[in-house]
Amino acid sequence: MDSKNYKIAVVGLGYVGLPLAVALAKKYSVVGYDLSKARVKELQEGHDRTHEIDADTLKKSSLKVYDDANAMCGSDVFIVTVPTPVDDNNQPDLGPLESASTVLGGIIKKGNTVVFESTVYPGVTEDFCGPILEKVSGLKAGEDFFLGYSPERINPGDKVHTVEKITKVVAGQTTVIADKLAEIYGSMNGGNIFVAKSIKAAEAAKVIENTQRDINIAFINEISLIFAKMNLSIHDVLDAAATKWNFLKFQPGLVGGHCIGVDPYYLATASKALGHNPQMILAGRTTNESMANELADLITQRVGRPMSLLVLGLTFKENVPDLRNTKVVDLIEALKKRGHHVDVHDACADPIEAKKYFNYDLVPSLQGDYEGIIGAVPHDEYCTFSNADFSKFLKPEGWIFDLKAIWREQPLEGFNYWSL
Ligand SMILES: NC(=O)c1ccc[n+]([C@@H]2O[C@H](COP(=O)([O-])OP(=O)(O)OC[C@H]3O[C@@H](n4cnc5c(N)ncnc54)[C@H](O)[C@@H]3O)[C@@H](O)[C@H]2O)c1
Repeated sequence: MDSKNYKIAVVGLGYVGLPLAVALAKKYSVVGYDLSKARVKELQEGHDRTHEIDADTLKKSSLKVYDDANAMCGSDVFIVTVPTPVDDNNQPDLGPLESASTVLGGIIKKGNTVVFESTVYPGVTEDFCGPILEKVSGLKAGEDFFLGYSPERINPGDKVHTVEKITKVVAGQTTVIADKLAEIYGSMNGGNIFVAKSIKAAEAAKVIENTQRDINIAFINEISLIFAKMNLSIHDVLDAAATKWNFLKFQPGLVGGHCIGVDPYYLATASKALGHNPQMILAGRTTNESMANELADLITQRVGRPMSLLVLGLTFKENVPDLRNTKVVDLIEALKKRGHHVDVHDACADPIEAKKYFNYDLVPSLQGDYEGIIGAVPHDEYCTFSNADFSKFLKPEGWIFDLKAIWREQPLEGFNYWSL
């Protein structure tokens, strides 16, 4: 088949699926399917609430989006980008993959390719999704239809490392399929493709990228806490240590979101199922999960009494509206437990979502007479704050708890300043 004639369907139009579908639609005929009617409606109206694709790009794109899976019938290549969360016990929740595979099983035909992009542990594509597709379709994977895996590496809010600019790892059940995926994805990013040896190797590569990051941050978090007890700034230490050529300058912080703080649990579960206790992976998780309480203690110890506090930033990272699995909520709740009154402002989050997910009423504007502010998320809007800005909502001699060292280099007079 002439590559230009590939018909592609993308299943799940979130942070990963939408930018991918829009990029592929520049070269191919692409339909997007999402089971959320609300998501599809807003995209059809030209609005992407994740802020990954602007309205103009969305309007001009040839991508067609639907909440009816039948719209994908007749496609040759199906790319699955549905969520892979964990449950309340930090166990992988493969429900979205199961339901997407079940739906696709009713649609795929001989010769089709089904590619998974969701982050998983090695084996999920071939040993979990493949059998569902086979059972529902009555077709045989590797003979009648073919599996592939291509991990997604995009970083929400990052306008530099976009889907069209980063190396894409691809893997297929056969070399022919791997080559086909290299051709499809390569046409979108200038041929910047790495063909992994196997689907399992590609799955494993993705999950260790994020697990390694989690462990590196955990180490920095741990030494931040040690140095805090020594009244030593981790940032002063990191500035000095980073002058060594092979030192890795990770930053301390709350590890939230649905990737770094979740993916290690996928690997840990697979490891335990094989009888190996993944001590380091889980120690990293435990350390990072403890940070909200540790920070609440450090803040409380600094002043020694409950305060009226304004938290700046609720999202899981800077300059994105994404509130999923944000650990700032853990910090807020830990502060409340210690008797503080806590208000929250966020320059990027949707107030309706903050209310829906956490029952928080975001303060609409930055004003007031708080005894302390907590810089929790370095949204651009906060990074430029000076004395004059702080005095609009912070009492004279009030506390600036700068968890992300946003204002570390600012001359902040008339306020008390603390960072790790
Ligand atoms: N967001 C990131 O930065 C990022 C980066 C790399 C990898 N990933 C991985 O990519 C995958 C998707 O993440 P995301 O952030 O795009 O998630 P998301 O929640 O933003 O989007 C997922 C979309 O899939 C839809 N969906 C859920 N189940 C479905 C189903 N059965 N059929 C059709 N649509 C369905 C949801 O309605 C949602 O719109 C996850 O495995 C994640 O770990 C995410």
